[in-house]
Amino acid sequence: EDAERDGFDHYMLKEIHEQPAALERAINGRITDDNRVHLEEFPPGSFADVGEVHFLSCGTSNHASVYAQQMLRDRGVPAYAFTAGEYATTPAPVSDDTLVVAVTQSGETADTLASLRSANERGARTLAVTNVVGSTAAREADDALFIRAGPEIGVAATKTFSSQVVVLALLVERIVEDVTGEPSAEAEALLSAMRELPSQVDSVVRESTAASLANRYAERAGTFFIGRGVAYPVACEGALKFKEISYEHAEGFAAGELKHGPLALVTPDTPVIGVFSGKHDTKTLNNVEEVRSRGAPVIGVAAETSDHVAGAVDEFLPVPETHPDLSGVLANVQLQLVSYHVADLLDRSIDKPRNLAKSVTVE
Ligand code: G6P
Repeated sequence: EDAERDGFDHYMLKEIHEQPAALERAINGRITDDNRVHLEEFPPGSFADVGEVHFLSCGTSNHASVYAQQMLRDRGVPAYAFTAGEYATTPAPVSDDTLVVAVTQSGETADTLASLRSANERGARTLAVTNVVGSTAAREADDALFIRAGPEIGVAATKTFSSQVVVLALLVERIVEDVTGEPSAEAEALLSAMRELPSQVDSVVRESTAASLANRYAERAGTFFIGRGVAYPVACEGALKFKEISYEHAEGFAAGELKHGPLALVTPDTPVIGVFSGKHDTKTLNNVEEVRSRGAPVIGVAAETSDHVAGAVDEFLPVPETHPDLSGVLANVQLQLVSYHVADLLDRSIDKPRNLAKSVTVE
């Protein structure tokens, strides 16, 4: 097993380091020289009839789905990310122009398959976004789009989240172009920035100082993660990773929700991790002020050029500058490393956390 881990202590750390290569594969051949989306499976016009998009997914895949939901809404296309277990019991109505996208790393999650079947039975057009060719989701959906992340062994998803976000971002731009008849105002800049993402992820992995935070931020009463827009699902994913592998209490919130309850829990013993995408930062900085005035230490994750963030937090984890809609991928790598190092310090079973399974095949 040691050999398979390539000298890394855990598969999770190996897979964090594999993200640049996984992202290269995810985007390979899917961006044209003039920065347009090229999805072999979906030529231009494939989604011209789409009026609304439903995403169905669980766990980490649900956070990638919320990320795509935010991007579609920003570009004027109605989009809704549902947790699959709820959609399977209380499905949202679909019509002829509803595209239902099941996002599932394994393609075998029972809740996701049940919700996909419900959409199929009601006549919706369905698409599986998955890592596994030949998986049940890929076979049962009308179409499939593969994220090409390679096998992931660690129960806590890492490289598959990054690859899902990037492939979903490509799908978002394809859908928007087809629905509106022209590329989104963001498309060219986003796709050009996407080419740089693998090497930027590599620099985050190599230069991160997350390990040095671990002993100061382990074993606290709770750790809260906040963000807005695309940084909101990244905050949720950061908290999920933290609780999955460290067994410490953590919650991810939309930054605006903090004052509607969670603030009552904030003390000097509850670090708050703020994720900043470069859009809406001023509002999130107001929320940072609210928690700092109650004594909570704040860690900010933002572009390295964000002096307004760096100057307002106790600890700063920088990421390279990119398109705001891709910044969450880089921020998430910092959060993966924070969780990994806290869990490692606490000597947790990082690759196989207690009570959790890589693929959950019961509803
Ligand atoms: C399990 C795994 C998670 C994963 C979720 C959904 O809970 O532990 O890491 O995000 O299932 O899995 P899927 O294969 O559908 O993406």
